[in-house]
Amino acid sequence: MAETLLEVKNLKTYFYTTKGVVKAVDGVSFKLNKGEVLGIAGESGCGKSTTAYSLIRLVPPPGKIVDGQLIFEGRDILKLSEEDFRKQIRWKKISMVFQGAMNALNPVYTIGDQIAEVLMLHKHMSKEEAMKEVYKLLEMVGIDPKRAKSYPHELSGGMKQRVVIAMALALRPPLVIADEPTTALDVVVQAQIMNLLKKLQREHQMSIILITHDLSLIAEMAEKVAIMYAGKIVEYGTAEQIFLNPQHPYTRGLLASIPRLTGDIHKLEFIPGVPPDLSNPPPGCRFAPRCKFKFEPCDKEEPPVMEIEPGHYVSCWLHAKK
Ligand SMILES: Nc1ncnc2c1ncn2[C@@H]1O[C@H](COP(=O)(O)OP(=O)(O)OP(=O)(O)O)[C@@H](O)[C@H]1O
Ligand SMILES: [Mg+2]
Repeated sequence: MAETLLEVKNLKTYFYTTKGVVKAVDGVSFKLNKGEVLGIAGESGCGKSTTAYSLIRLVPPPGKIVDGQLIFEGRDILKLSEEDFRKQIRWKKISMVFQGAMNALNPVYTIGDQIAEVLMLHKHMSKEEAMKEVYKLLEMVGIDPKRAKSYPHELSGGMKQRVVIAMALALRPPLVIADEPTTALDVVVQAQIMNLLKKLQREHQMSIILITHDLSLIAEMAEKVAIMYAGKIVEYGTAEQIFLNPQHPYTRGLLASIPRLTGDIHKLEFIPGVPPDLSNPPPGCRFAPRCKFKFEPCDKEEPPVMEIEPGHYVSCWLHAKK
């Protein structure tokens, strides 16, 4: 039996803006096993990054986690005080490669110093001890340790992204969240970074939550897949279940939108319309206004989550008995 590392139960994270309450994450539940890669996909604005921020409790204001449980290694880490969370969990147990992080490296410090700082702060290492570890980490992510003295502007985009990954791995956390880790990179470098993540994940028995709108990346990397739409997970299952037997009309639409080398471009299906405003989501199924299979209950009532085969969950009225 695979061992559960993280179980997210009914997570809700809202932004309290002057224009209203944006329900960015609205009842998200999923499980992640030890050593497993979970891919989270969905259109821009569906709440992927907000889910990630919630997991390391760094939701930016005016956002707040308003409900749910985050059971990590057997206990609810939402119940920890901020101080305990910072000391015990953030970076040590759960780290994150932030969306756009490579552009957030501090321009006035060398990359070696920036990685060393993580180690000195959290592991109370001396500068000398930390630098030894920095060289190991740089080697691990495929950068010549001599480059520790380089400043961010002296590195290519791909190398900066490797540095950011080295920082996330510095404390060897069992869970790394990677939010669009390769979006800004060209396809060759993207493949290198993905291969690196996969290799490190296997070697260190890490779990990864890979967030991307790129389903082909998820197909290559992930054992489990969650499809998010408008603050909710509409379908969840193994990669085989999601890619070979997708059941939610939204999942099918997303999959049909992946251009295929062999496919006829004119046959490329797409999902008309745009996602709803999350401060005023439609009643019933949030996808209903865009769904070509919509029928009587869809606009009125939220569909329940159904397990349609072992481990394969869908939230759609087409699969619910009404
Ligand atoms: N700081 C904030 N203040 C107010 N609303 C926010 C804030 N951050 C995110 N949101 C809103 O929360 C929703 C979810 O945003 P989020 O960034 O989680 O989406 P995402 O799926 O990561 O999108 P992308 O693919 O573009 O990265 C959006 O409607 C967004 O406008
Ligand atoms: Mg995002």
